[in-house]
Amino acid sequence: MVAMQLLGLWAALLLLCGCQDTQAGNLLVVPGEFSHWLNMRVILDQLTERSHNVTVLVATASPSINFSRPERYRFLVYNVPFDRQDWISINDDFIKFLMYESQNASMLQIGLWVWDMMQKINVIQLNICDALLWDHKLLETLRQLNFDALLSDPMLICTDLLADVLHLPLVFSMRFSFGMSMERLCGQMPAPPSYVPAATLGYTDKMTFFQRVHNFVMYTVYDMFLYVYSRTTVDQYYSEIKGTPTTFCEIMGKADIWLIRTYWDFEYPRPLLPNFKFVGGLHCKPAKPLPEAMEEFVQSSGDDGIVVFSLGSMVKNLTKERANTIATALGQIPQKVLWRYSGEKPDTLADNTRAYDWIPQNDLLGHPKTKAFITHGGTNGLYEAIYHGVPLVGVPLFADQPDNIMHIKAKGAAVMMDFNKMTSQDLVDGLNKVTNDSLYKENMMRLSRIHHDQPMKPLDTAVFWIEFVMRNKGAKHLRVESHNLSWYQYHCLDVAAALLALVVLIIVVTVKTCTFCFRKCFRKTKARQKTE
Ligand SMILES: *[C@@H]1O[C@H](CO)[C@@H](O)[C@H](O)[C@H]1NC(C)=O
Ligand SMILES: *[C@@H]1O[C@H](CO)[C@@H](O)[C@H](O)[C@H]1NC(C)=O
Ligand SMILES: *[C@@H]1O[C@H](CO)[C@@H](O)[C@H](O)[C@H]1NC(C)=O
Ligand SMILES: *[C@@H]1O[C@H](CO)[C@@H](O)[C@H](O)[C@H]1NC(C)=O
Ligand SMILES: *[C@@H]1O[C@H](CO)[C@@H](O)[C@H](O)[C@H]1NC(C)=O
Ligand SMILES: *[C@@H]1O[C@H](CO)[C@@H](O)[C@H](O)[C@H]1NC(C)=O
Repeated sequence: MVAMQLLGLWAALLLLCGCQDTQAGNLLVVPGEFSHWLNMRVILDQLTERSHNVTVLVATASPSINFSRPERYRFLVYNVPFDRQDWISINDDFIKFLMYESQNASMLQIGLWVWDMMQKINVIQLNICDALLWDHKLLETLRQLNFDALLSDPMLICTDLLADVLHLPLVFSMRFSFGMSMERLCGQMPAPPSYVPAATLGYTDKMTFFQRVHNFVMYTVYDMFLYVYSRTTVDQYYSEIKGTPTTFCEIMGKADIWLIRTYWDFEYPRPLLPNFKFVGGLHCKPAKPLPEAMEEFVQSSGDDGIVVFSLGSMVKNLTKERANTIATALGQIPQKVLWRYSGEKPDTLADNTRAYDWIPQNDLLGHPKTKAFITHGGTNGLYEAIYHGVPLVGVPLFADQPDNIMHIKAKGAAVMMDFNKMTSQDLVDGLNKVTNDSLYKENMMRLSRIHHDQPMKPLDTAVFWIEFVMRNKGAKHLRVESHNLSWYQYHCLDVAAALLALVVLIIVVTVKTCTFCFRKCFRKTKARQKTE
């Protein structure tokens, strides 16, 4: 009996060793910038924790990655012919235009401005491409390091091309891109416009006829946009590097795994491909204790609790007018407010509100006294709110943010404000609605339960698939064959045409034969009648 148990224990130990003894992989990483980096960093920490060798390629002008900070992964810095401030100021201009100036602009002005901005961003993108792909010394170094795979954020465009040049399997880490054109056109992910709403429209999966028309048109516009962008700016660049005619989408479509930073708590049900994995909320973790002074302030709120307020890491300050409107509103609610705000202190800032340059957002959202979260609707913050079950007051500013908030609003766990148009009273009403009406909290708790009730934690899923790709030299077995089909083959138009032709042929032959027989019989009877 004891012997059996010992044997069992031995077998278990062996198994354990077998699991622990996974070969350490060698991973090359090209991260995105700004909030995208925060997300990527969590994955890299976990990979180094599991003793993989991680090398991060970073530009000398990186606006958000401090490569002189000692980390457990290695930085490999490449030179770009612009500096950090250029990148940051383009980004700031972008945000300022989208937040304020676009409000009063005509469609034409917005169009021209977007075109201008695209050119500026493109200069940065292509400079980075040049730095990565024309620097033969860097490429040689990368080849010698013998990586097993490349992990990248397609926020920088040439990372797929780098993987192709180095013959490395590729894993993307991304949020669904704007309009999902990249996933649909390059990744071949099916998105029927009849029930998968396009980004920015704010529709849910239940659409009326006219909404479906709108949705369909929007998909077409996004697709044309991607097509024109890729034809006019990057296809030629990609072809030049590859040495054969190719397209942006073709190279991007070679990715082995697409790690998408959302999940069913947030998305409407929709089809996914086997190489698309949902890992939304991978950066979320249980709350840690707050700094002492902050905890004291939080405790002083009594039964009313606190409201956490952040418009994200990209928006440091607001116009005086907006800041005052917001501060006035915050002064009228019974809760205490912790506001991440490093701009000039608004005159109307009340005693119940404290502005901080930085807040431990995750720890605050996980605090039992937290009643609501005022957020711009970036996915990182949204997932922390879902993780901890805190209902939202959404003040979306730009890009995917209105759409993100709409998702949570449709699920009954958020109210949405218009940043430029809202008055103090609107914000007060919104906050009271979310904190008084327990339905918001209940709905958010439901999303939270869905989020936590998964067979594997999102971070573990992400790490598993990266390891899978490193172990198996890719995951081509999950890649659908539609990458290899033309549009008429994909929609079976050739098959339909062939079947149609066949049916027509059969009808024609049948008709011909019948008329022929009929005539013959008819003639025969006639002839017989004559002879009789
Ligand atoms: C990780 O990469 C560095 C640089 O190539 C190398 O010196 C080191 O030996 C590698 N470590 C492992 C465990 O492979
Ligand atoms: C980057 O990290 C280094 C070392 O920790 C630190 O001295 C430096 O101030 C940091 N730079 C920025 C811009 O944060
Ligand atoms: C937009 O126009 C209105 C009315 O002319 C003006 O009051 C407002 O300040 C303008 N907003 C911006 C951001 O320029
Ligand atoms: C924010 O602060 C910067 C620098 O202090 C300033 O240039 C910018 O105009 C401010 N933004 C707004 C919206 O006030
Ligand atoms: C909501 O909360 C505010 C502030 O506590 C209070 O004045 C108001 O009466 C509440 N409304 C409802 C419907 O409970
Ligand atoms: C497409 O089909 C060709 C011919 O069957 C094959 O050689 C190629 O590997 C396929 N490409 C992809 C991406 O599956």
